[in-house]
Amino acid sequence: MTGKEPAVPAVALGTWAWGDSGEAGDGYFGSRLSESGLREVVEKAQANGFTLWDTAVVYGMGRSESVLARALAGYDRSEYQLSTKFTPQIAGDGDDPVADMLEQSLDRMRTDYVDLFWIHNPSDVARWTPPLIPLLRSGKVRHVGVSNHNLEEIALADRILGEAGFRVEAVQNHYSLLYRSSERAGVLDHCRKHDVRFFSYMVLEQGALTGRYGPANPLPEGSTRAAVYNGILPQLQALTDRMGAIGEDRGASAAEVATAWAIAKGTTPIVGVTKPGHIDGLVRARGIELTDGEVAELEALADAADVDTRGWWEQEM
Ligand SMILES: NC(=O)c1ccc[n+]([C@@H]2O[C@H](COP(=O)([O-])OP(=O)(O)OC[C@H]3O[C@@H](n4cnc5c(N)ncnc54)[C@H](OP(=O)(O)O)[C@@H]3O)[C@@H](O)[C@H]2O)c1
Repeated sequence: MTGKEPAVPAVALGTWAWGDSGEAGDGYFGSRLSESGLREVVEKAQANGFTLWDTAVVYGMGRSESVLARALAGYDRSEYQLSTKFTPQIAGDGDDPVADMLEQSLDRMRTDYVDLFWIHNPSDVARWTPPLIPLLRSGKVRHVGVSNHNLEEIALADRILGEAGFRVEAVQNHYSLLYRSSERAGVLDHCRKHDVRFFSYMVLEQGALTGRYGPANPLPEGSTRAAVYNGILPQLQALTDRMGAIGEDRGASAAEVATAWAIAKGTTPIVGVTKPGHIDGLVRARGIELTDGEVAELEALADAADVDTRGWWEQEM
C-alpha cells in the first residue's frame, strides 16, 4: 500500500469465524467463541503488532463486524486498521448500494472510515467499481482492494479507478499450499510487478492445515468446514506431518510453518485467529525463514495430496 498509512503487519487477522460467536458450535466453523476470549485475542494481537483486522458484512451477517468493534473498544482508532467488504450478492436496492453497505459497516464498527475496502467478488466489475470513487474522495475509504478477481478483472477495476486518480492497492485471494491458482494464473507476479499487496486467505484451509485436526480428531461435527474438509484429512496427513517436523526444529507448529510459507511467497496471510495462543503462533511464524528447499518440498507434498479446496464462492483464476 502507499501513502502515509502505518506499515502493514506481516500477517493480517481474519474474523470470519467470529461471526459464529453467540451461536456456539452452530455456525460455519462450529467454533465456541466468547466475547471475553476474543477480547484476549485482540489484546495479545495489538500488543504484538498485529493490528490489521479483516472482516465482512456476510461473516455472520454483521455479527463479526460488531463483535470485532466491541473487542477493539478502548483502543485509539489510530492503533488498528479495519478491512471490510462490499458483497455484491447482498446489495440493497437504493441509489448507491456500495455506499449504503459501507455506511452500515461503519455504524457496526463504530468508526467513520475503513482503512481497506474490498469488492468481495467480481460479480460485475464495471458496475461495482465506480461507486468506490466518491468513497475514496470523501476519506470514508482509505484504500481499495479487490477480492477473488482474476487478472482481467483486476485490470478492469484498476482502469476504472485509474481514470479518477486512484488504483487497486491490494488483492485478496484464496492462496495456500493446497490452492495455488493465483500463482499459476500470474496474479502473484502481477501484484509483485505493480506493487500491489497480495493478501492470501485460508492459508490454514480453515484448520485442515494446522496439524491440530486429522482423521482421529476431525473438524467440529456439524459445521460447514467439517463437511468440506473432514473427508480429505487422510490425504493431508503427509503434508501436515512434514510441516510439523520442519516446525519442531524451530519450536513451531505445522500451522506456523503453513503461515511462514505464505510469507516466504511474498504474500500477506490473513489468518483466522480464534484463540490467544494463535497470536503466539503468529509471532513465531513471522520469525521463521523457510529455505527454498523446504518450500519446494512442501509444495511437492501438497501437490501429491491431490485435493481441490476451491471454495464454493470462488471462480477458477
Ligand atoms: N475474500 C474472501 O472471499 C475470503 C474468503 C475466506 C476467508 N477470507 C478472510 O480470510 C480469513 C482467514 O480465513 P479463514 O478464517 O476462513 O480460515 P483460516 O485462516 O485458513 O483458518 C482459520 C482456522 O484455523 C485455526 N487457526 C487459526 N490460527 C491458528 C494458529 N495460529 N494455529 C493453529 N490453528 C489456528 C482456527 O481453528 P479453530 O478455531 O478450530 O482452532 C481457525 O478457525 C477469514 O477469517 C477472512 O477474514 C476472505
